[in-house]
Amino acid sequence: MRKKVTVVGAGNVGANCALRIADKELADVVLVDVIEGVPQGKGLDLLQSGPVQGYDVMVTGANDYEPTANSDIAILTAGFPRKPGMSRDDLLLANFEVVRTATAQIAKYSPNCILIVVTNPLDAMAQAAYWVSNFSKNRVVGMAGVLDSARFRTFIAAELKVSMENVTAVVMGGHGDTMVPLVRLSSVSGIPLTELMDQATIDRIVERTRNGGAEIVKHLKTGSAFYAPSAAAVEMAESILKDKKKVLPCAALLEGEYGIDGLFVGVPVKLGALGVEQIYRIKLTETEQAQLHKSAAAVKELVDVMKSKV
Ligand code: 2OP
Repeated sequence: MRKKVTVVGAGNVGANCALRIADKELADVVLVDVIEGVPQGKGLDLLQSGPVQGYDVMVTGANDYEPTANSDIAILTAGFPRKPGMSRDDLLLANFEVVRTATAQIAKYSPNCILIVVTNPLDAMAQAAYWVSNFSKNRVVGMAGVLDSARFRTFIAAELKVSMENVTAVVMGGHGDTMVPLVRLSSVSGIPLTELMDQATIDRIVERTRNGGAEIVKHLKTGSAFYAPSAAAVEMAESILKDKKKVLPCAALLEGEYGIDGLFVGVPVKLGALGVEQIYRIKLTETEQAQLHKSAAAVKELVDVMKSKV
């Protein structure tokens, strides 16, 4: 039997998630959105790409959650996007409402699914989905580290004029200005980054990575990135659906790891059929640990605001 993935939100991120899932023939897709006609229209359009692209998955759209029943994965992308000058945090309460409603419906119809949260502000929204779903912590995971690391890898590859495939990089922490690109653990085919670039260049790339989302918002003016975010979410979904056990930086609930307790923060995890199957504890330097704690504190501020509204 084919796997089933629900994508909540038929905007740019959601529709591109559906497209990538279909293209990779990973699962049947149900696209859900509150706007009448949009998920149905995009779903049908995607389905009709099947004969050309050569995929045999069913793509449908709906405004309610009944058709999503028994999904293996739900990817939450619904929410208001960032406008220029807006921080991810400005979105907090509006998107908390969106995620709260969607998660309750997903949990009702697919009580055994794994939730991949994409809505911003990411770490706080993952926390909200965890609260509302009552799922075990391994079944709620946030997409941010894969995207932030992809940006870091892109800039490194472009600077060195090498294949992106050769670049390994890890970004930990919250998906915001305090994210922690780990230069020490970044390499090109095993060659440490620090041996390939001077410090000024590294600093410039780290800064550009931190502002990677905002740079795109500035160009687009009316919305935020969606190609790379959807690629990142689908890499996570694929690892779960195929039980590939990829090790990826994702927002996961920490319970003491890295000295952080009860918060979703980006860390390297193993993603398999059970969702977050392992959280890796990397030995960090004092500076890195301090940066991670600063980032966690920024996430906690948002979580505390949400807590006061529950
Ligand atoms: C980004 O970083 C929208 O948060 C998303 O592009």
